[in-house]
Order: sequence, then structure tokens, then C-alpha cells
Amino acid sequence: MDDQTEYIDTLIALHRGLDRQGPGDINFARQLLRSLPPFPPQPRIADLGCGSGAGALLLAEHYQSSVLAVDASAVFIEELQTRARAAGLEQWITAIVADMGQLDWPQGSIDLLWSEGAAYNLGFEQALSRWRPLLAEGGVAVVSELSWFTDAIPAQAWDYWQAAYPGIGSEADNRQRAKRAGYRVVATSRLPSQAWWANYYGPLRSRLNQLNPNLSSVAQTVVQDTEAEMALFQQFSDVYGYTFYILSPEVEHR
Ligand SMILES: C[S@@+](CC[C@H](N)C(=O)[O-])C[C@H]1O[C@@H](n2cnc3c(N)ncnc32)[C@H](O)[C@@H]1O
Repeated sequence: MDDQTEYIDTLIALHRGLDRQGPGDINFARQLLRSLPPFPPQPRIADLGCGSGAGALLLAEHYQSSVLAVDASAVFIEELQTRARAAGLEQWITAIVADMGQLDWPQGSIDLLWSEGAAYNLGFEQALSRWRPLLAEGGVAVVSELSWFTDAIPAQAWDYWQAAYPGIGSEADNRQRAKRAGYRVVATSRLPSQAWWANYYGPLRSRLNQLNPNLSSVAQTVVQDTEAEMALFQQFSDVYGYTFYILSPEVEHR
């Protein structure tokens, strides 16, 4: 196995069995859903980059309607199927192993497109452009993206993210990107920093503490990278975080 594959496999193993694979919060998400414009009865929903399905499960429960949940990892998709059965939501959720950037679904076939902590894998603007044709008229996209919260970015945070995710932008940058991709920005909402710790970094840290000490060098790198990311957020959670962008399709872009 090459190092890149081992790195990704180790990351997946580290996140396996966790409630979520990125920062998020169920009550925050419920509040967002309550703020959305009304959908047709039985809206058609997608959760893209769903991981093991924190979003998909909530969406299915909230709307009692069908959810197409897509992730590149078969491990997470299998976990989602198990969780959906345990929650009695399996009749609503279709869990698919696929590339969320290459979906061949019909144009205008989704009323609510949800994506938490995943668009960065394609690049925010590229993801929004790819997904734009899927949205029905009157549909809504709710997409979270790592964003700078200030123009006064300390060098340590800047340097870290230029290496880890050079596409990171300010909220103003991301609004422009969304407009270029064919959306109107209806609202934005920042995920509170305590949600990162309570629902993601906390469980992840417990997982790190339980790891077998005899790790391969690649696995040690994964652990060091994860700890560095957490330490940075501890110091700079007022400088960057996840912003949820609530977007509606501009009709003339179709
Ligand atoms: C940070 S996790 C977020 C997962 C989930 N939305 C959550 O909030 O718990 C990002 C997810 O995107 C998935 N992913 C990355 N690139 C992808 C692609 N091209 N197509 C589908 N899924 C992808 C990863 O497998 C991973 O599960």
C-alpha cells in the first residue's frame, strides 16, 4: 500500500464509529432547517459527502422524506446503512458510494441539497458549480465551508491553512464564489466553536488516546496532523471556523 492510501485508510479508521466525521451540531442544524423556506410536500433531499450520515439521518427524520446520501467511502456508507436501520429510517435513506462531483442525476431533481464539511474536497466554488444543475427551482442548498472570520489573520493560522487547504477564503470570498456558481446567498450562519469540541474533536481525541502505541510511521503522521489541527483551533477559533451558506439557485443560470 502506498503512503497516501495508508494515510486515507488510517483517517477513515480513526473516524469510523464516530457520530460525525467533521464539525457540526444537531441542534444547530435543526435551527437552520426551521429557518428554510417551505418545500413541496415530500421534498427530494441529498446529503453530499455524508460520511456515516449525521446529516442524512437528521434530514430523513425531520422531513420523513427520501434522502440520497452520497460518500466516496464504502466504510462510512455501510455505517450509515446500519445507523438508518437502527433508527427505523431505512425506508427514507438511499446510501450510495459515489463521487459527489460526478453525479449523473436529472437536472432539477433535488429540493434540498445538504453538505456539511465536505465541499472543500472539490473546492467550494467547484462543488457549488457541479451541484447547481441538480437543484430544482425553489430549491435550497445548505453547504458548510471552512471560512476566515476576520481580515486580521495571524501568520500561524494563515501558514497552516495555506499548506492544508489553500482554497480557504473569507465569508465575503465565499459569497462571491457562490454567486459565480449561480446562487443567491440567502443567509450565512457560523457553527459555534463549542460544537467542534463537543461533537467532533472531543470524540476524536478520545479515539486518539485509545490508539495502540505501536503505530506505523504513516499512522503517526495522521495522529500528529490531527493533534496539530486541534491545537490550532484551540488557539484561533475566533479567526476561522465553519460557516453554513444557505443558497438558492439563480434561475437565469440554468
Ligand atoms: C469531513 S467529512 C464530513 C462527513 C459528514 N458530512 C459529517 O459532517 O459528519 C467529509 C466526507 O466527504 C467525503 N468525500 C470526500 N471526497 C468525496 C467525493 N469526491 N465524493 C463523495 N464523498 C467525498 C469523505 O469520505 C468524508 O466522509
